[in-house]
Amino acid sequence: MNAPEAVKPPPAASHVMNTYGRLPFALSHGRGCRVWDTEGREYLDALGGIAVNTLGHAHPQLVPALQEQVAKLIHCSNYYQMPLQEQLAAKLCELSGLTNAFFCSTGLEANEAALKIARKFGHDRGIDRPEIIVYEKAFHGRSIATLSATGNAKVQAGFGPLVEGFVRVPLNDVAAIEEVANTRPNVVAVFLEVIQGEGGINPATVDYLRALRRLCDEHDWLLMLDEVQCGIGRTGKWFAHQWAGIRADVMPLAKGLGSGVPVGAVVCGPRAANVLGPGNHGTTFGGNPLAMRASLETLRIMEADGLLENAATVGSALRAGLARELAGVAGVVDIRGQGLMIGVELSRPCGELLGRAAARGLLISVTAERVVRLVPPLILSRAEADEVVALLAPLIRDFLAEPAQPA
Ligand SMILES: Cc1ncc(COP(=O)(O)O)c(C=O)c1O
Repeated sequence: MNAPEAVKPPPAASHVMNTYGRLPFALSHGRGCRVWDTEGREYLDALGGIAVNTLGHAHPQLVPALQEQVAKLIHCSNYYQMPLQEQLAAKLCELSGLTNAFFCSTGLEANEAALKIARKFGHDRGIDRPEIIVYEKAFHGRSIATLSATGNAKVQAGFGPLVEGFVRVPLNDVAAIEEVANTRPNVVAVFLEVIQGEGGINPATVDYLRALRRLCDEHDWLLMLDEVQCGIGRTGKWFAHQWAGIRADVMPLAKGLGSGVPVGAVVCGPRAANVLGPGNHGTTFGGNPLAMRASLETLRIMEADGLLENAATVGSALRAGLARELAGVAGVVDIRGQGLMIGVELSRPCGELLGRAAARGLLISVTAERVVRLVPPLILSRAEADEVVALLAPLIRDFLAEPAQPA
């Protein structure tokens, strides 16, 4: 294994806009949790397309289902009845205890729909400047409204003026929410990731989620839980908030729902499901037959193959293995997460680990500058988890043993 480790700008002749720092190799195909690049090098995929490839790569049941659907109908439009949307909405409602779904194609679109629902929910109650509580270190997407809701100055820099109507609080601080409740009469919703992903794998505690549910009920606010990254079985339950035994009013989904086929959804309970009516919202691609089929097959295979249980048990083993191998290593601040959503926080920025891991045949990511993030396919086996530990722990140990580079 000998991939170069630097993140490089695109070649000077590239016609692709320069918006990503990319590693200097191209992936050509995959199978299960393995992928290969165009030079034939093999990688163990502990990133899963950033929490997207739920069933890994080239799943033997998903591929023929998609092939069949492509040959029948990829896209039509929302002018017509959509039986596959009906089936997927019913399934998501069964799994979440909610009542209705709207379909789109990405996470930010699901969050935009949620924000529109919150604002209209306020307008319908006579609040003409509604406010939404959002969080420090949150990430909700890169459209103008969702980057305004995001709690990361880097994501926002250069794109002002930001959208108004957000009140920001720290995570897991009930007193901060109570303070907002006492001082801001125009609040209509609380909007948070159950486990912050891009912000560094920061979970909302079970007690905090229960307190939020109670406060939302008391103040007639919508509880809007962004499960785009932590949902769809990743934590060992269908949706991460289910560990707290609560229900959302509005739940945006995307990423893992279609196992790689772009799809987003916003699933609502009775207080939010009828806020939008005909003409209020729409999208050309949202809910197309290919995306719906991919999602239905993903959920079916997850159930048939016990992937929630797998995420919980293999995730625990992976965390335990990392804790064992990194015990006592100076510079390892914390190892946290749930199921197959794991963060290893280091004491200093560690972006270069991305390239170094790839050079050893492991795909990972680094988020919030100092947190190594693992969000592999939910089919990851126990043996593959052991392999992730065996590849990653020495990399982290070696990195932390080097003198820190001047900033
Ligand atoms: C929690 C969360 N919400 C929203 C998004 C945005 O999703 P997308 O990139 O599909 O627009 C992301 C993407 O990382 C996310 O992690």
